[in-house]
Amino acid sequence: MKTLVLANQKGGVGKSAVAVQFAYYLADVLKKRVLVIDFDHQRNTSKAIRTGGLATVSPITSSRLLTSKTDAASIEHADFVLVPGDAELIKMEKQAAEHNKFATNLYTFLADIADRFDVCVIDTNPNPDIRQLASLVVGDFVLSPLQLNQEAIDGIGDLLNHDNIGIRKIKATINKKLELIGILPNIVEPTPFQRENLRDLSAAFAKLLIPLGAGFAAIKKTTAIPEAQAAGLPVWKLGKSSAREAWAHIRPVFSKIATQMGVE
Ligand SMILES: Nc1ncnc2c1ncn2[C@@H]1O[C@H](COP(=O)(O)OP(=O)(O)OP(=O)(O)O)[C@@H](O)[C@H]1O
Ligand SMILES: [Mg+2]
Repeated sequence: MKTLVLANQKGGVGKSAVAVQFAYYLADVLKKRVLVIDFDHQRNTSKAIRTGGLATVSPITSSRLLTSKTDAASIEHADFVLVPGDAELIKMEKQAAEHNKFATNLYTFLADIADRFDVCVIDTNPNPDIRQLASLVVGDFVLSPLQLNQEAIDGIGDLLNHDNIGIRKIKATINKKLELIGILPNIVEPTPFQRENLRDLSAAFAKLLIPLGAGFAAIKKTTAIPEAQAAGLPVWKLGKSSAREAWAHIRPVFSKIATQMGVE
């Protein structure tokens, strides 16, 4: 099982939308066995996946994976399973004395369930807290959607070098296998301002972008994503021409990410 963590401390950049749509891509298009864990108390990922009804929803919620030893037998036997978020998640950060145990519990759970799924997709909350740290400590890959505004671009430094949850620091210390798939510009608009920001971003952080074709992977602003998320459906199942257009440009991005994870 390969574990992908969606992480960026900036809110509203598309972590949950990418988590859900990429999980659908893995399950529906690539026919992989997929486990989704929602560590965000806002539960956007849980809501979308519940609404769509395409995955089995585990009665065990995600805070329990941190607070208790959970074995694979407690998770239903299905090829596409969601461990939904819950309100308890917000209380995890305050229990500092338990943080090591939280990360160990999650690590042990994922190791126990590793032969049941091909991919685990973890959606995280936009706070640099134990939920994000534990995810990065157990993950194999990180993907960071971001928006093309200056504030978000300035946040890339934190993404890499933050004292607690900087990817470079975690990779150098507690999780050497962690690999950054890359930053994924999302909600990209064809404005001169965004084009300029993309140019600046690729000049400063070319190595962090995901090479695709002659350029870099990015997802355009499209009404298809919020519509698909509201319906809980894969973009390619919306059956509208705008969604087909969106899927035509998103599919190669997802295919590239899956390839980089060694999932094909
Ligand atoms: N490519 C896109 N085009 C248009 N809207 C998008 C796109 N990607 C995401 N959105 C929409 O933007 C909003 C924010 O996305 P999402 O909730 O996935 O962000 P997030 O990073 O998970 O936010 P948070 O940090 O609050 O968890 C949602 O309404 C989502 O449907
Ligand atoms: Mg989210």
